[in-house]
Amino acid sequence: MIKTSHKQQPQTECFTPFLQQDKTQSPRYRALFNYIQQQILCGNLAAESRLPSSRELAELLKLSRNTIKQVYEMLQAEGYIETRQGDGSYISAQLSLNRKTKQKNLNPDLKPIRVSDKSELLQQIRPLYHQSNQHLLLPASPALEQFPWPEWQRSVSHAGKQMKFSSGRHLMGEPQLRQEIVSYLNTTRGVHCDMEQVMICSGSQQGMQLAFSMLINPGDKVLVEDPGFPGIDGAISTAGGVKVSVPIDRQGFRTDIALTETQDARLAFITPSRNFPMGYTLSLERRLQLLQWARQRGCCIIEDDYDSEFRFDGPPLTSLQGLDGEHSVIYSGTFSRILHPAIRLGYLVLPPALVPSFNQMRGFLDGGLSSLPQLALADFMSRGLFASHLRRMRKLYKARRQYLLQQVAKRFNGSLVWEPCDGGMHGVFLLPPDTDDKAIVEQANAVGLGLRPLSYYYDEQPALSGLVIGFSGYNEEQIDTGLNRLQPIVDRHLQ
Ligand SMILES: Cc1ncc(COP(=O)(O)O)c(C=O)c1O
Repeated sequence: MIKTSHKQQPQTECFTPFLQQDKTQSPRYRALFNYIQQQILCGNLAAESRLPSSRELAELLKLSRNTIKQVYEMLQAEGYIETRQGDGSYISAQLSLNRKTKQKNLNPDLKPIRVSDKSELLQQIRPLYHQSNQHLLLPASPALEQFPWPEWQRSVSHAGKQMKFSSGRHLMGEPQLRQEIVSYLNTTRGVHCDMEQVMICSGSQQGMQLAFSMLINPGDKVLVEDPGFPGIDGAISTAGGVKVSVPIDRQGFRTDIALTETQDARLAFITPSRNFPMGYTLSLERRLQLLQWARQRGCCIIEDDYDSEFRFDGPPLTSLQGLDGEHSVIYSGTFSRILHPAIRLGYLVLPPALVPSFNQMRGFLDGGLSSLPQLALADFMSRGLFASHLRRMRKLYKARRQYLLQQVAKRFNGSLVWEPCDGGMHGVFLLPPDTDDKAIVEQANAVGLGLRPLSYYYDEQPALSGLVIGFSGYNEEQIDTGLNRLQPIVDRHLQ
């Protein structure tokens, strides 16, 4: 309660700086509320001191009395001031702490927020690149100008209408979309599943994060390809997992090393259709070895099938999940590369035994995704537009890659050597050993390119030097522009 025995005079001088403030800041009542709030919090308006009457302040600030009254009411509602009938408005006595705060601010000894060991660990992980496709030759960039936007808009509008009839939240995702994904995976990827096993996620990365958190205990070993996909580092580390780097060769993940030297690993994360970033396909013999290892030891394999749709020299290969028979493999897919990176839709196909626990966790994680984009995508797929877009992009990307390969061979005179690969959205080009690929990329990206140094994808294995160059999102003219900028930089480094 406010003591009225020692009435203080209204502190009008505190308000004069408000007169100098930008008057276009609107609405005025909000600007004045923010101003008085700040003055109270920093202690300039002291606890228990009296505010000018609404009439006085209105005259001083050249505002209407109603505006001042409204501001005082808001301050009172939020506990900053107290009004006594017939005695004016006072800064709340409970805010006397602010005097101390004010002194502290002059001599700050604020303690930083303490974060968990996991958050600290994240600071030590190689950071991810985030660039828009405005940067030329960026890997994984779809040809957005080729996307059937009018058809997509129709699907979005259809989804908007359908929401009215949607039966509510589905933790695993909208049934229509899950059913479309099942039909697509059954026919094109040889994946065995029904829709109960499909969980829609906000991009495949969220799915993988969830999988790591559900499958590993702190200290568990996780086998990963090296070079490999850095996007999983954070998920493994925050789950307390210990990455075991496994070298690859042209047959893919070295099972001979991984499965003999690291018997006690709990999980393997791999890109069997096309190793990321090198593009090698895991041989059948190694697939079978890996599956046998997982089955015999109760381990799980996460199969990241990020862009196997873009195989140029034949139909996509059968997935590892298809060989497994729904026991040990979690299959992960994404729409980021086929449709749009910002669509943020991907999915996991879970072995049936894992469905209940993942479903339960999903309830805690985010309660499922927004249904609108899911329904739009389901409509887009059911009208055959997804499949036809995919067919067109496969042809287009093949032609774009062909152009990039020709141009690189013509311009770089053997100093950038393509590492053969059966498809994808980027090419790996090796530089002479010991070339500083990071320095080249830094300079290239400073002039508008979006390349990646090959060495960035290596964790513990000795790194090859090279450039990862995206082609899918760029026409011939853009590829030329990109290479024109790159050429002098590479030449300078190789002199
Ligand atoms: C190898 C690999 N896996 C997974 C992803 C993640 O995809 P999403 O955008 O669906 O999270 C990417 C993204 O480009 C990727 O390159």
